[in-house]
Amino acid sequence: MPDFDRTDFFTDGSVVDDPYPYFEHLRSRCPVYRESHHGVVAVTGYDEAVRVYRDHETFSSCNSVTGPFSGLPAEPGGDDIGPLIEQVREQLPMSEHLVTMDPPLHTAQRALLARLLTPRRLKENEEFMWRLADRQIDEFAARGRVELLREYAQPFALLVIADLLGVPEEFHEPFRVRLGLQKVGSLVPDEAVSGNALEFLEEQFGSFVRERRREPRADVLTALATATFPDGSTPDVTDVVRVATFLFAAGQETTARLLSSVMLVLAERPDLQALLREDRSLIPAFVEETLRLESPVKSDFRLVRRSTTLHDVDLPAGTTVMLLNGAVNRDPTHFEEPDRFRVDRPNAREHLAFGRGVHACPGSPLARVEARVSVERLLDRMADIHLDEAEHGPVSDRRLSYEPTYILRGLTALHLGYTPVG
Ligand code: HEM
Repeated sequence: MPDFDRTDFFTDGSVVDDPYPYFEHLRSRCPVYRESHHGVVAVTGYDEAVRVYRDHETFSSCNSVTGPFSGLPAEPGGDDIGPLIEQVREQLPMSEHLVTMDPPLHTAQRALLARLLTPRRLKENEEFMWRLADRQIDEFAARGRVELLREYAQPFALLVIADLLGVPEEFHEPFRVRLGLQKVGSLVPDEAVSGNALEFLEEQFGSFVRERRREPRADVLTALATATFPDGSTPDVTDVVRVATFLFAAGQETTARLLSSVMLVLAERPDLQALLREDRSLIPAFVEETLRLESPVKSDFRLVRRSTTLHDVDLPAGTTVMLLNGAVNRDPTHFEEPDRFRVDRPNAREHLAFGRGVHACPGSPLARVEARVSVERLLDRMADIHLDEAEHGPVSDRRLSYEPTYILRGLTALHLGYTPVG
């Protein structure tokens, strides 16, 4: 048993492939526990996490993606650091993005996004997903093996967001190439094309938005370009571009990791694969249970704005709180037999994989549909899906490696074998 008290979650690679024993160690201390390396307070309890997510007055999101590396002074002092946060906010990393904002600024920017994610847009987007899934699968179907992440999940998640934002289909291949997800066999080398992905997106969306403001058309990009804040004012082009480009940052890797986790379970559990083949209506519950057990965002952060307590633990203003979704979703006081994969779990949808409160993931309906459509079409087109043992080793000695980050939870590659259908 490793000495988890010595484990530095933020730098130690040893808990990347399987963080769950470390999470259980934290839970055994207290559902709210201060780790010793960075003074970060880790939350593994379900009720405590919900409280933090919902209380945006006490807990600021200014460090939501940077955690202990927020750039704020280590010991700011005082019981209310609200004024200090506002003073330095613009210098904090990622401060231009929705996920680090607090109300009221957050409320206005989030409303811009809500104008885009309308039920009608989501429905059109789903129609695109079915076509896209088949087009992607066509690229490797006959081969009988695939590296699912790079050949399916990443380009699929990328192009779904491109379509959601109304990027015309003739731009999809350039998007895929410029963002480093070119078709397998492409002669364009990776380094030459990936460049600075965010810069490319900002340039591209900047020109879409300016063009549509000059010459409106009946399309989604025009709706994006002409969306207004709730008070009727028109946002700067930069604001609109940031909302659009952040969707790629927030929605692509997360969803791609979910798709690979879902397919890993199917490949490792022939009984579940058979069950889903027989009864497709179980797919949504299967996806929820995967989100619960393998939450793609395993940690999320808040900064205590005003001194408070949580589960009787003192949290002075300035404390970094780490919401461990990956642990919270296995809290035995909320989920019975938490480590077991149960498609019939009655409360699986109560997981916190998409967060809660004002920042709760606005892309969750999209991610859920992406997973459902993908599982449907992959099952249709591939029989007997299994792990490629040449890549991942035999059942008794699997080799699976995960992204070395303290935020994301997801495989670095998933090699599958299967029998092509049709
Ligand atoms: C399985 C896939 C996904 C997971 C697990 C996930 C998870 C999350 C979580 C936990 C948050 C809350 C962050 C916080 O409270 O600090 C969040 C926020 C966000 N997500 Fe997702 N997400 C996924 C897919 C998507 C997709 C597909 C999109 C968009 C197309 C998206 C867009 C966003 C945005 C814009 C925010 C920031 C919202 C705000 O701050 O108000 N996400 N996501």
